[in-house]
Amino acid sequence: MNQLTRLDKLLFRLEAQYACLGWAFGEITGLPGIVFEMGLGHGRTYDHLRTHLPDRDIYVLDREIDCFDDCTPPDGRLILGDIDDTLTASAHRFPRQVILAHADMGTYDEERNIAMRAVLSRRLPAVLAPQAIVLSDMPLELAGTRPLPLPAGAREGRYFLYRNG
Ligand SMILES: C[S@@+](CC[C@H](N)C(=O)[O-])C[C@H]1O[C@@H](n2cnc3c(N)ncnc32)[C@H](O)[C@@H]1O
Repeated sequence: MNQLTRLDKLLFRLEAQYACLGWAFGEITGLPGIVFEMGLGHGRTYDHLRTHLPDRDIYVLDREIDCFDDCTPPDGRLILGDIDDTLTASAHRFPRQVILAHADMGTYDEERNIAMRAVLSRRLPAVLAPQAIVLSDMPLELAGTRPLPLPAGAREGRYFLYRNG
């Protein structure tokens, strides 16, 4: 039985997400910069980021608030709007300041994913600090970055890592 079920795919994605986040916390230690969480959703990965990076300024980008009450970002840390617009504005507000960018924006709709990948690929590079790490649930093409192998515990193709040059 080689075909992956939807449960397999969900499990492997979360497993990879968890491993990549844990790896990234170590990679940015000692490097200055803010954190971008793209896709608040229910707030699960935001909760993980704020717990493991208590001294970082974490900005959360989403078009809506639909998270667990206790995962609502504090005033001033939520950037509400379509990601194309908010990342465009962020290029002026936070130029080359983001040391860790996590994009969890994929859906089950492949057409929407292609459009989202294009937006993230176009808009993210302007905010990335030198040596920034990008984690994404979808492959991106980010000018100035190079792809990195996944850490132990993450299956190939389930998450995507990049380091800014
Ligand atoms: C998969 S969920 C994020 C899950 C979250 N990281 C978690 O762990 O709970 C994706 C999020 O992306 C947001 N989103 C999708 N398209 C967007 C867009 N064009 N602009 C801004 N946010 C968008 C949705 O509102 C949703 O909250």
